[in-house]
Amino acid sequence: MDEVKESVASMTSRLPGFYKRPIAERLQLVADMAGLTTEESEVFSVSSGLSSGEADRMVENAIGIFPLPLGIAANFRLNGQDCLVPMAVEEPSVLAASSNAANLLRDGEGIRTSSTEPIMIGQIQVLDFPDLDAARAAIESQAEALVAASNRINPRLVERGGGAKRLLVREFPDTALGPMLVLHLEVDVRDAMGANIINTMVESLAPEVERITGGRVRLRILSNLADKRLARAEGRVKIARLARAGWTGEEVAQGIVEASVMADVDPYRAATHNKGAMNGVDAFLVAAGQDWRAIEAGCHAYAARDGRYRSLSRWRIDGEDLVGVIELPMQVGVVGGVTKTHAVVKVVHKILGFPNATRLGEIAAAAGLAQNLAAIMALATEGIQRGHMSMHCRNVVAESGAVGDEVELVVAELRRRQTYDHATASVVLAEVRAGCHQKVA
Ligand code: MEV
Repeated sequence: MDEVKESVASMTSRLPGFYKRPIAERLQLVADMAGLTTEESEVFSVSSGLSSGEADRMVENAIGIFPLPLGIAANFRLNGQDCLVPMAVEEPSVLAASSNAANLLRDGEGIRTSSTEPIMIGQIQVLDFPDLDAARAAIESQAEALVAASNRINPRLVERGGGAKRLLVREFPDTALGPMLVLHLEVDVRDAMGANIINTMVESLAPEVERITGGRVRLRILSNLADKRLARAEGRVKIARLARAGWTGEEVAQGIVEASVMADVDPYRAATHNKGAMNGVDAFLVAAGQDWRAIEAGCHAYAARDGRYRSLSRWRIDGEDLVGVIELPMQVGVVGGVTKTHAVVKVVHKILGFPNATRLGEIAAAAGLAQNLAAIMALATEGIQRGHMSMHCRNVVAESGAVGDEVELVVAELRRRQTYDHATASVVLAEVRAGCHQKVA
């Protein structure tokens, strides 16, 4: 494992022309870089990634598997270290957009990332106590003992530097059920996502909480608003590098800042802005075998933390640079879940150099920042549709019935005409079959 970490740490994520190579060559290149064995490379083929037996063990009522394309986003550099970013996603443009934006953000040390400690929150709902103030005071006076009791359940976590750290009491004096207390057990879960650790701890504390408060415990479950476990990514681009046909760098940078401000003030825009960032985050999380629903839930709740739903990222101009920052609650794990059992996920972690949970979360945040930059850069200039439809072109062509060499010929002609609708694809396919469009050598 250490050898893999070292070799992955010294590799470059610059892969010029990667997108033009045949899929087998791309895989070979990544396999060489990450030192994958033949067996490991083979997990990416449809037939060997996940057997139906494994699927049957993972979920109930399984009838098969559901494949998604897996790609590599290139050009990512985090804190001076290059990183290939695997992404599993059905949406065209995500990999290309991430790779392009990561290229803009890679100067110097690249994207700067940091994290808080991996603290997750477990909640215990308490009802029907005789007196709210007395119940609260009783819990607060026993908080240390309750934390110690939680840690006795998981001594190995404590040995690794984690474990329950504190217990807080939150008060809801006037609910539809009468007064309610919600206890927060804050637990450092180290390299785990934390759901099992937390849920076991809060369930085991419940009887003692009932005894101390004289009340009744109902829910005992982790909170996905993991606002104590944040990953932050900050990227910088020289404004001059943003220039493109028809726009100066200053105009593009200004457009990006204007997009950022709109997402900050308008929840309708913030939702779409954040969806763009989550395109990168989720695609990476799926490939890395993470509970992306938990992280989605946490990110959107975090976006609304001050009472109004806002953007998760901010972009500003700083001298000659455009600077973007994203901060996300990041409940990821590299132990437990499917990280050691799913054949594809295991190889993805090898390509990543077996990161710990903190680094994994920071890669997700960096992917979100890059994806967000790509989206708002396109929106602030030519709009999203041209690039998107050009990427979507292959799907349209496949639906038109083109096969074999016909596909590339129809794609090339549609790109030349910059028209990507089904009707034109069918017309062009007929033209190809009539010999009107020949392959250019
Ligand atoms: C599409 O999947 C994502 C975008 O709508 C994001 C955005 O508007 O910022 C392009």
